[in-house]
Amino acid sequence: MGKHVKVKKPRPVNLDLQTIRFPLTAIASILHRVSGVITFVSVAILLWLLGLSLSTPEGFASAANIVDSFFVKFILWGVLTALFYHIVVGVRHLLMDMGYFEEMDTGIASTKVSFAIVAVLAVFAGGLVW
Ligand code: HEM
Repeated sequence: MGKHVKVKKPRPVNLDLQTIRFPLTAIASILHRVSGVITFVSVAILLWLLGLSLSTPEGFASAANIVDSFFVKFILWGVLTALFYHIVVGVRHLLMDMGYFEEMDTGIASTKVSFAIVAVLAVFAGGLVW
């Protein structure tokens, strides 16, 4: 019969949100989920806009009118950038599924490369929208 001694080890607690630092790879992962949700929601809106623009000449005119404001263009730019982010970081994710970039150093390096590619594509998205 073993004697059970309950030892309450004090666990490290950190509730000071200012000192909690996520590694870059974790930030990339969280943003990938966020960009997936943004893409999911925006598909419905973009399909509606496409449908409107293809319905009639008047429909095309009102779709063009909707997209004409700075606010809508900014949203469209954000949607495109989120999609590019999701694709680029998604491809990195698939490469990791194939066994690449699994160490911390290569993981961070591939995240930085992904961010750089997304930055270029974000500028490209701006060129498309404006
Ligand atoms: C309409 C297009 C798309 C939508 C709405 C979408 C949405 C999503 C959502 C909501 C998730 C779940 C995220 C999570 O659980 O953290 C996800 C995961 C994923 N997506 Fe997409 N996605 C789309 C296109 C793509 C494309 C084109 C790629 C190409 C690389 C891609 C790659 C991935 C990968 C690899 C995951 C798994 C990530 C993980 O396991 O953490 N997705 N997507």
